[in-house]
Amino acid sequence: MSEPGNNPLVRTVASTKSEMTEIVLPNDTNTLGNLLGGRLMHFIDLTGAMAAYRHARTYVVTAAMDHIDFIRPVRLGDLVTLKSSVNRAFTSSMEVGVKVWAENTRSGEVVHVASAYLVFVAMDEHGRFQKVPELVTETPDQERRYADALLRRRHRESEHKRRQEERQMTAALGEAESGE
Ligand SMILES: CC(C)(COP(=O)(O)OP(=O)(O)OC[C@H]1O[C@@H](n2cnc3c(N)ncnc32)[C@H](O)[C@@H]1OP(=O)(O)O)[C@@H](O)C(=O)NCCC(=O)NCCS
Repeated sequence: MSEPGNNPLVRTVASTKSEMTEIVLPNDTNTLGNLLGGRLMHFIDLTGAMAAYRHARTYVVTAAMDHIDFIRPVRLGDLVTLKSSVNRAFTSSMEVGVKVWAENTRSGEVVHVASAYLVFVAMDEHGRFQKVPELVTETPDQERRYADALLRRRHRESEHKRRQEERQMTAALGEAESGE
C-alpha cells in the first residue's frame, strides 16, 4: 500500500489541520461588547476554507454551513482561536469541522465557545467540479468524525430535497391563486 504522503490522491486528516487566532476588537462587537455572531461565522468560514484548501489543493467554495451553537459569549479583548480539519472527503465536496475557543487575556481562562460543520466544494478556475483526494483517518476520534460526516451528509440531502419540494409547492399554490 502506498504511503499517504507519497500519494497525491490520498491525504491524512492531520495534513488538513488549520488554525487561526484573532483578538476581538471594538469593530467586531455588538453594543454589549460581545463578538458579533456574523463576525464569528466569518472567522469559521475562513478557518474551514484553510483545511479544505489543504485537502483539495484547488479552488474551493462554501456550499453549506450547518447548525452552529454559540455556547458562550466572546468578550471584547478576548483571543479567539479556531481549529479546523477535514472530517470526510466525498467526490468534489469535503466536510470540515471547526471548533472555537475564547481566551481571557488577563485570567488566561480558555473556554470552548462554538463548533460548526461546513461543506466546501472543489472547483477549477472555470468553476468545474474537481475530484478531491481520498481522506485517511489515523485515530479513533478521526474515524468517529469520518463516520458521523456520512450521516450528516444524508441528513443534509434529505433536508435539501424537503426544501426543494416545499418551494415547488409554494410556487404551484401561487400560480393557482393568481389563476396562471
Ligand atoms: C455549492 C454549489 C457549487 C453546488 O452546485 P450544484 O450544481 O448544486 O452541485 P451538485 O448538486 O452537482 O453537487 C456537487 C457537490 O456539491 C455538494 N453540494 C451541493 N449543494 C450542497 C449543499 N447545499 N450542502 C452540502 N453539499 C452540497 C454535493 O453533495 C456534491 O458533492 P460530491 O461531489 O462530493 O458528491 C453551487 O450551489 C454554488 O456555486 N453555490 C455558491 C457557492 C458560494 O458562492 N459560496 C460562498 C457563499 S456566498
